[in-house]
Amino acid sequence: MMRSKTKIAAACGFTLLAAALPVCLAANPAANPVNQGNDDYVEYQNNVDASLADGANPGAFTVDDGKALFLKPRGPKHKDLSTCDFGLGPGVLKGAYAQLPRYFKDTGRVQGLEGRLMTCMTTIQGYPEADIKSKFMMPEYKTSDEGDSSGSDLATLATYIAAQSNGLTFDTQINNPQMEKAYHLGEYMFFHRWGEMDLNCATCHGYNDRTVRGVPLPNLLDTHTAGMVMTAFPAYVIKDGTMRTQWWRNERCVMAMRLPWLKIDSDLDNALTTFMRVQASKSDVKINIPGSKARA
Ligand code: HEC
Repeated sequence: MMRSKTKIAAACGFTLLAAALPVCLAANPAANPVNQGNDDYVEYQNNVDASLADGANPGAFTVDDGKALFLKPRGPKHKDLSTCDFGLGPGVLKGAYAQLPRYFKDTGRVQGLEGRLMTCMTTIQGYPEADIKSKFMMPEYKTSDEGDSSGSDLATLATYIAAQSNGLTFDTQINNPQMEKAYHLGEYMFFHRWGEMDLNCATCHGYNDRTVRGVPLPNLLDTHTAGMVMTAFPAYVIKDGTMRTQWWRNERCVMAMRLPWLKIDSDLDNALTTFMRVQASKSDVKINIPGSKARA
């Protein structure tokens, strides 16, 4: 469906003159590499998982907490969230996360899990948008030393919904113009060099051998690795002692790139997640929530 010229132009971040083509191809890693795991990262992440003995991931408690919160009547309308539509119809949770982000007709937007939860908290439970921002989607770290283990309702709810797709592979589909646009925007963001440090996501996540502060980085253009990464969020972050979502992970790296705050459920947030989920959808790694991460 995608013409390769459009794709390369998106990867380079501007419309190409034919003469600039070889430069761009050389400057960016391949957008569709062979399916080869980057071994250092895979080994590193397997060790993190193994450090939680016998699959005793404390995030499992959050799945239960999330269920209770999901079924609890709350907000000005005193309603629970059991009629929320995550794309497969009102109240259908099984397999819904596996197909997100997707285009929702009622909001006219491509949305992911956190965004959809926020929509339902507004429309079904009647929370004013300002409340959702201040109470449910606050920046996760409240202090600059990052020694903050406070979670959020949004992460708790997201963990429960995501876990209802456990055992499935991601199947995020580019099957309408809105999804196509989100995918291309995400791809553009991944490869475009931004900010005072002139970084793109691919600088750190487009190669098999990158390491930052002793931690091997995942090559998110490698479909198996993208599968490993995306199927683990929401993840229990050991350093924080709490669950963190996909948006939170994206925002951490956007902040590290010295870019402005990545607004949750913004078109850019959803586009980035769409691009990475499409990579993950090409792998056979199964969703396994809660994942585990050492730090981040
Ligand atoms: C300067 C290097 C750098 C850049 C640029 C960068 N990241 Fe990261 N990224 C990291 C580090 C460091 C981690 C955390 C690794 C750890 O400690 O587990 C990480 C982790 C991640 C993870 C989770 C990986 C996992 O193991 O589950 C995702 C997803 C991610 N980044 C996406 C992005 C996206 C999207 C962008 C561009 C908007 C980006 N990153 C830009 C360094 C970077």
